[in-house]
Amino acid sequence: MAGIGVNEVVARTAVDSSPAGAPWTGPVPRHIAMIMDGNGRWAQRQGLPRVEGHLRGAETVRRMVEECARLGVEQLTLFCLSSENWKRPAEELEFLMQLLRQYLRQEQTELVRGNIRLSVIGDLARLPAETQTEIDAAVRHCATHSGIRLCLAVNYGARAEIVAAARRLAEEVGAGQRRADEIDEAAFASCLDTAGMPDPDLLIRTAGEMRVSNFLLWQISYSELWVTPCLWPDLQVADLHAALREFGQRERRFGGLSSGEPA
Ligand code: IPE
Ligand code: MG
Repeated sequence: MAGIGVNEVVARTAVDSSPAGAPWTGPVPRHIAMIMDGNGRWAQRQGLPRVEGHLRGAETVRRMVEECARLGVEQLTLFCLSSENWKRPAEELEFLMQLLRQYLRQEQTELVRGNIRLSVIGDLARLPAETQTEIDAAVRHCATHSGIRLCLAVNYGARAEIVAAARRLAEEVGAGQRRADEIDEAAFASCLDTAGMPDPDLLIRTAGEMRVSNFLLWQISYSELWVTPCLWPDLQVADLHAALREFGQRERRFGGLSSGEPA
């Protein structure tokens, strides 16, 4: 495994006096995005079929949603299925679709209890009809909620999202609805699937890979990255708190100078 030792980095750079693993009580990011990775490896290590890893991964989703809601995070975006994941065997994809439908159905009580808003981003038109129906029903079910927004990226690919936005803008210019010199970052962002959502402040990736895998490429321009070797099914609330502790120590300059530097 890529021994990036993020947790050691956290321990070395810690300036807060709370012992490692103590619950995080400091400020929280508005928007956390997560690349859920390592379900297959988790299953393989236990000598189980890959799909068992996805089942266990769904439990981690519940833990993370519950804890982010409790902490007062405004939005949690989860990379559930990338547009590249269609290369997987048909049985695994069918299982993932079933799992998503089951999650949306079973979680309805929790979504109501937690006042959770639900958004789904990605190319949903290519999903099986029954999955689309289940997504529509769940989103409608949560339409009046005002708590944390849970945003699921399903059949999502950032390049395709950016191309679709460019095409839409070009069509609007062609139809005389917009002038080309009016296209700015805000106009572009308003054509993305994430229109109206804040950009992620923190991107968490499990299973140690140091890449962003075509996830929210526009939106993560200034996100802080936190990568852990921990596999998604093993990710605990304490790991989330470790990420938040490190996030709290990062100085976000957005291309400017640090507060101590002369102007
Ligand atoms: C992430 O785990 C879950 C999804 C992409 C649905 P993987 O299935 O990618 O697990 P690994 O990378 O094979 O371990
Ligand atoms: Mg993977």
